[in-house]
Amino acid sequence: MEQTIAQNGMLVVLYVIASVLFILSLGGLSNPESSRRGNWFGIIGMAIAVGVTFFHPQVTAQSYGVLLAMIVLGGAIGSIVAARIAMTAMPQLVAGFHSFVGLAAVLVGINSYMDSAGLMGAERVIHEMEVFLGVFIGAVTFTGSIVAFGKLQGLIRSKPLLLPGRHLLNIGMSLVSVYCGYRFFGVQDIMTQGLPALLAMTVIAFILGVHLVMSIGGADMPVVVSMLNSYSGWAAAATGFLLANDLLIITGALVGSSGAILSYIMCTAMNRSLLSVIFGGFGAEEGKAAPAGAQPAGEVVATTVDEVSNMLKEARQVIVVPGYGMAVARAQHPVKEISDKLRARDVKVRFAIHPVAGRLPGHMNVLLAEANVPYDIVMEMDEINPDFPETDVVLVIGANDIVNPGALEDPSSPIYGMPVLETWKAKTTIVLKRSMAAGYAGVDNPLFYKDNTRMLFGDAKKSVDAILAQLQ
Ligand code: TAP
Repeated sequence: MEQTIAQNGMLVVLYVIASVLFILSLGGLSNPESSRRGNWFGIIGMAIAVGVTFFHPQVTAQSYGVLLAMIVLGGAIGSIVAARIAMTAMPQLVAGFHSFVGLAAVLVGINSYMDSAGLMGAERVIHEMEVFLGVFIGAVTFTGSIVAFGKLQGLIRSKPLLLPGRHLLNIGMSLVSVYCGYRFFGVQDIMTQGLPALLAMTVIAFILGVHLVMSIGGADMPVVVSMLNSYSGWAAAATGFLLANDLLIITGALVGSSGAILSYIMCTAMNRSLLSVIFGGFGAEEGKAAPAGAQPAGEVVATTVDEVSNMLKEARQVIVVPGYGMAVARAQHPVKEISDKLRARDVKVRFAIHPVAGRLPGHMNVLLAEANVPYDIVMEMDEINPDFPETDVVLVIGANDIVNPGALEDPSSPIYGMPVLETWKAKTTIVLKRSMAAGYAGVDNPLFYKDNTRMLFGDAKKSVDAILAQLQ
């Protein structure tokens, strides 16, 4: 008895320490300069959280073997996957991880319900609410994340699936889930009455998760992944209530709320409404694909490495706009060297970061930090947009959608309303890409046809290496 009280006391103290470390971790990750420290806080917090499991009163010495085997196995799989994954494939990895959280919430919820025969009164009502909500959110997260994974990995087509009456379908499935809840709460026999209703709701929530994410177009996937992140947090918090685990409740709430805040920030950056993301079909009506072969009027002017190097040598102000293509080409190191060379010539060089550049939030910041680009010359979109008119040369390196003027000028564009980097206002914009292919949203880019735009075709790494050689 005394031993259990001591164990519980120690558990609470260690849980509080781990929770504080998670909060410090989130705080650290909000800024590139403190992000390494933030990561370490998170790693130490998680090590404490996992290690402490051994001292939980419900974990007996007999289960140590299974626990150790699972930790070693899970840790090994996680380390191998994380070490092998390309930076550009990070969003699908995150989506994959969310699906596990969702599935865990479903399994823990169902298991905990089947084990709850002895509960009475208010305790039972609360427990059933935790089970029902936890399983519902977990099931939507599980299948929604699998579909998001498939879309980001290119296994499922990224175009939105627009079933007729899809909103009615969502409402219908939600109402049937509520009816399952009616059949689930307070039943006499858990196994013959409550469990079938719970399982029926689980199946409906699985379908709802698939349908919600299938009806969202590729360009809106970043917000979806972040929303699923939030859902997985709430599912984990519900699991925490079921297991009476305070740390899981706190961690789940942290993930749930930070995911929701990130989704909100991204929606604002893309001029979208959060509600339309949650209820699916987002951007679908307005998201008409550009007719095949449609090209904005005008000609494309190609340029050469020599010309670009000369323009850079003569420039007083240069802005570099990195995008997904820079990440694919791994061109950030020579790009940083180019900026060093120009700065040594007293050219004012800055980097302009769009909130959804690349394929995950903060993607470009991570790449630039890896290349040791000083933080004070890395600017957010809102800070730098007013400066394009007095800029001599803009280097757009493997970016496309985030510099598409159609987002501001063409109401028929699928990305209309999304704020973009207004590079066309500079004296000259040089776009480094391999072809005239569209970007992630699959839309043509009128920037390429503007009089003051020059296209430097080729792999971004090869092009910037060649420009760097000319600047030496
Ligand atoms: P994109 O619009 O995807 O354009 C990238 C461009 O890079 C492509 O047009 C491609 O053209 C070029 N490229 C690819 N490989 C290259 C290489 N080796 N060398 C040179 N160029 C290369 O990228 P963006 O402008 O960064 O915009 C991001 C898009 O992704 C947005 O639509 C956003 O909504 C979406 N998205 C963002 C996120 C987050 S959170 N950041 C997550 C998922 C999706 P070529 O093939 O002609 O070379």
